Amino acid sequence: MTSFLTEIDHVAIAVNDLDAAIAWYEDVFGATVVHREVVESDGVSEALIKVADSYIQLLTPTRPDSPVGKYLEKKGEGLHHVGYRVDDCAAALESVKASGGRVIDEAPRPGSRGTMVAFVHPKASFGTLIELVEDPS
Ligand code: CO
Repeated sequence: MTSFLTEIDHVAIAVNDLDAAIAWYEDVFGATVVHREVVESDGVSEALIKVADSYIQLLTPTRPDSPVGKYLEKKGEGLHHVGYRVDDCAAALESVKASGGRVIDEAPRPGSRGTMVAFVHPKASFGTLIELVEDPS
């Protein structure tokens, strides 16, 4: 079987202070933010730093009761999820379900920068929250 994961799209890191985290990545790694976006439906503000064909996605909550807000409250700052790029998010999601994977999103939904995304539940994936990302650009 050939994997439908084509690339690591992004590694998402939850932080309390987005501007401080951006400044740290700039100062320490010479990194540059290539995209910033607030995704109100998820209650997050994000900054993307490009690393080769992938991104580091710095995330901070826009409200304390958002999923990332609750995550920070419970677990503190750190690795939040890994996003894998796929050609077809709907097909990838169906394949995960057919293979017994537990999903959070029953259908793909809009993510940031015009992507379609769906999350796979960490309880059934060895503790890692996984995001399937279809980037039409
Ligand atoms: Co993500």
